[in-house]
Amino acid sequence: MRKSLVAGNWKLNGSLADNQELVASIVAGLSGGAVEVAVCPPSPYLGQVKGLCEGRLALGAQDVSEHKSGAYTGEVAASMLQEFGVEYVIVGHSERRSLFGDSDNRVAAKFVAAVQQGLKPVLCLGETLEEREAGATESVVRRQLEAVLDVVERKHWQHAVIAYEPVWAIGTGKTATPEQAQEVHAFLRGILAEALGEELGQSIRLLYGGSVKPDNAAELFAKEDIDGGLIGGASLKAADFLAIVQAAAQ
Ligand code: PGA
Repeated sequence: MRKSLVAGNWKLNGSLADNQELVASIVAGLSGGAVEVAVCPPSPYLGQVKGLCEGRLALGAQDVSEHKSGAYTGEVAASMLQEFGVEYVIVGHSERRSLFGDSDNRVAAKFVAAVQQGLKPVLCLGETLEEREAGATESVVRRQLEAVLDVVERKHWQHAVIAYEPVWAIGTGKTATPEQAQEVHAFLRGILAEALGEELGQSIRLLYGGSVKPDNAAELFAKEDIDGGLIGGASLKAADFLAIVQAAAQ
């Protein structure tokens, strides 16, 4: 049985005061432990947010350097994240890929840096609208996943999470239909099972991301291979985020 995971990707949003209020409201509104819940604040706030999670929320970072240390201005190493109690780290978010030049190879190197430090990577992948319309969805997500499968040892996949996030659905209010999402998730699971073996492939959680909201979460999460969500905009409002967590619990 895969335990559902709902992770909030705050992106470049937050302040000491806003974080305090948001996390306190989320923690106060959580019921039961059927779903694992994580929040991913901007890196300067990791220490603050860790202290607010009260052990009820997992802490995630939004990115990690592929380097361990050295002359890499602006980068944050996996070891540094770990010192601040980070458990998950997003790698390969489409905004990193499209705006900051994260190639498939760099994403794979970041994945390696994370797992070597004992962090759980949340590997994001997904096609653009152009690619979907050209019928290239499967070849794109296969390429993105295989770039990582090619360099990461089997044992390091144990705690990995994959987030399928069609680029055309991120922040646009357009969501993939549950059928569209499930189709890609099943395809990804097939690749994982083939590369890593059936048991491990079946145990890896596949999240959907892209305009998940309280009113569409339940039907997405009801699909067989959708094990939760990576939530952007709706993770900044406690009531919306909690409603999405609730949908994952059902
Ligand atoms: P969104 O973002 O929920 O605002 O579409 C999702 C993401 O980018 O992870």
